Amino acid sequence: MTQANSGIVKEWFRHPRLGMFIHWGLYAINGWHEQEQWRGRVPRDQYARLATRWNPVKFDPDAWLDLAQDAGMEYLVLTTKHHDGFCLFETAQTDFNVTRTPYGKDLLAELAAACHQRNFPLGLYYSVVDWKQPNYPNEDRHHELPPQPGDSPDFARYLEFLREQVRELCTNYGDIKVFWWDMNVPEHRDESINSLIRQLQPGCVINNRGLDEGDFGTPERDWHDPRPGENRPVEACQSVGMQSWGYRVDESYYSDRHILRSMDRFLAGGAHYLLNVGPDAEGLIPAKSAAMLRRVGCWYKNIKPAFAEARKIGTLPAAPGSLVARSGNRLYLHFPADLLGEDVVVEPVTALPKRATLLNTGQNLVCKNDVVPSMFLKGKMLRLCGLPVNELANTCAVVELEFADGKDIPDFGEGTSVVNINVM
Ligand code: GLC
Repeated sequence: MTQANSGIVKEWFRHPRLGMFIHWGLYAINGWHEQEQWRGRVPRDQYARLATRWNPVKFDPDAWLDLAQDAGMEYLVLTTKHHDGFCLFETAQTDFNVTRTPYGKDLLAELAAACHQRNFPLGLYYSVVDWKQPNYPNEDRHHELPPQPGDSPDFARYLEFLREQVRELCTNYGDIKVFWWDMNVPEHRDESINSLIRQLQPGCVINNRGLDEGDFGTPERDWHDPRPGENRPVEACQSVGMQSWGYRVDESYYSDRHILRSMDRFLAGGAHYLLNVGPDAEGLIPAKSAAMLRRVGCWYKNIKPAFAEARKIGTLPAAPGSLVARSGNRLYLHFPADLLGEDVVVEPVTALPKRATLLNTGQNLVCKNDVVPSMFLKGKMLRLCGLPVNELANTCAVVELEFADGKDIPDFGEGTSVVNINVM
């Protein structure tokens, strides 16, 4: 941790754990993928002409924020400039921006006003790779175009462009809480850029995909167990759709179960989670995405107490794939994998809890302290009885056990690993 990352600066980030990620830009018009230009081999000029059709007349930032809040989300990150170089904000650095489209207005300004109005933390995504700016050295590396005729590749000059855009983003839109870099393909290092962000926006947390390691890690889509001892906050990101982060007309959605289980694994490990939707070209979040977010929200709001303070301490041998987290006198048993049956032996716990609650439904669970035949060598163990396993088959079950005394909770033998969000 560098000095700049420490202390009160990042205080706000300890609390909100679930955020909304929004990928939105010209690519929503054709509705295939946010990297349509690159993956579809679309000539730059042809792609750029999409700007003449950009007019999201149904954009209503309050509707987005209402949905985010319905889903229990507590911050938001918007793609202000994706790899295509199109800016959703007014900028003096390039004409390839939203104010030079039929829409004509500064979208980011509208979203920022709505966020500030309800004190909703706003984060900005910004791609280092740029398929439009002539100084960016497109060299046909991953996520880059081949060299373009008429360009004047000059990374130092590109950095000046980028620095000025960072200055605009961190000056013109009030409080910015997250700066979310992406795709530093040249792997260029320059700590002065994040320093500029910190100077202009002292409350801002910065991810690790920019020009230095920033404040937090960003595992994407699949579960990567953060390295033990890696004392850095983690924010996982995932999209509701399997193929694209931007709007895709016929997106294949993940199952709720997949998303909930992925969320649970990260959140129970102390991480944050950024769940993405791609609004369409009119500015509407697709109904299917919105419905999914609302369902996720129903689950999340019930389970949330399990994520507040608890830290992972181990797993249950009798429940493959389970996670156990502890907060004081409470244990939280997470079952992101299928429960095998309606009883769970909570080895190595023997004491009966004061209360056992299935957080998904709020129902109390019967607990016993007895010997189960298959584990007779272990002696008496705590056993949770009568979990409604069939009803829970498509979700992620979480049980809260409240003990009379912290001493009732034995050592699970794995130490407090995974992610510590309190180290910033
Ligand atoms: C991947 C995608 C990129 C997207 C990002 C979000 O890197 O390639 O398009 O913006 O994920 O994390």
